[in-house]
Amino acid sequence: MMLDTYHRKHTYLRISLTDVCNLRCFYCMPDESYDFMPMKHLMQPPEIEMIAKVFVELGVTKIRLTGGEPLARRDFDDIVLRLSALPVELTLTTNATLLHQHVGALQLAGIRNLNISLDTLSPERFQQLTRRDKFSLTMRNIRMAIDRGFQVKINMVVMKGVNVDEVLDFVAWTKDEPIDVRFIEFMPFAGNRWTGEQVFAKQDIMDLITARYAAIPLHQDPHATSQPYAIPGHRGTFAVISTMSAPFCAGCNRMRLTADGKMKNCLFSKTESDLLSAVRGGKPLEHLIRENILGKAEKLGGQFGDVPFENIIGDQLVNRSMISIGG
Ligand code: GTP
Ligand code: 5AD
Ligand code: SF4
Repeated sequence: MMLDTYHRKHTYLRISLTDVCNLRCFYCMPDESYDFMPMKHLMQPPEIEMIAKVFVELGVTKIRLTGGEPLARRDFDDIVLRLSALPVELTLTTNATLLHQHVGALQLAGIRNLNISLDTLSPERFQQLTRRDKFSLTMRNIRMAIDRGFQVKINMVVMKGVNVDEVLDFVAWTKDEPIDVRFIEFMPFAGNRWTGEQVFAKQDIMDLITARYAAIPLHQDPHATSQPYAIPGHRGTFAVISTMSAPFCAGCNRMRLTADGKMKNCLFSKTESDLLSAVRGGKPLEHLIRENILGKAEKLGGQFGDVPFENIIGDQLVNRSMISIGG
């Protein structure tokens, strides 16, 4: 069991497989030049398997693969099949553009839930946001995932001046589709030029939605990032991930591994432990992992203090860019 000093049990590991992505969303990738990780710094499939096994022995019951775009890794199928042999719930966060190439491996690996990032339902806006022309491919693959019976969550990062006007369109989408839409408050990471003014907070989102629909709170897993709501007559649900306006750190059970094998105990942690170098040097991992967890701050990596998010200066945070952390 991996407990931190706040008695939180850590059972969920998020593994980033690569910092490469075939989209260029500005909120995730730094504006200025970004140096991708050199190949030799990336964890290789047997190394990922070895590290994951140690976490499972220490109590991990859920592993999520993230990136960059995890499906952009050529050896993705090998990795997912290796991890599928572990006694954990295995799952994936993806932009869906490469889903058609990997759906067989995902099904073989027993993956049933997919979290898919999509911030707009407009092809033109998709092109502006992602700087790539892959809207119809993304939508086609989302359709395929639903039709093949995957439980699909749609992650929509809500940003003022960008896509607030689409919140109700995403809710309307849940009427006929059994999807769970999650609106995510825009978060600050290195190079993404975040300002508090761009955050459209949970209460604003709820006000917009409840002016039009009745929203009924559903059971919330104590470790989840959000509270789901049902709308009468809708097949799907919606939720808001309120990191900035109402952090949910008290129930946190998460640990992260970057694609270059560094462990982070929080999305916003300043410190990292180099598990990949330990593995390559033949050193044991358990002590490093436990030590890392014991250094975990009460909330938000200890970086925000008690300041309201409106007063946070994104540039002053010590962290990586989102694309190199892995969500
Ligand atoms: P489920 O397992 O389906 O609940 O997914 P998830 O919410 O754990 O993961 P997902 O990769 O879909 O992430 C959705 C959003 O939540 C992204 O913006 C993540 O960066 C954010 N997120 C995920 N985990 C954490 C966390 O521990 N803390 C915070 N603050 N945000 C998180
Ligand atoms: N703020 C909030 N969510 C973000 N994501 C990426 N960058 C940010 C950010 N700055 C989301 C992606 C993906 C998930 C892993 O994290 O949209 O769905
Ligand atoms: Fe956990 Fe850090 Fe996320 Fe809070 S911000 S829920 S402590 S990972």
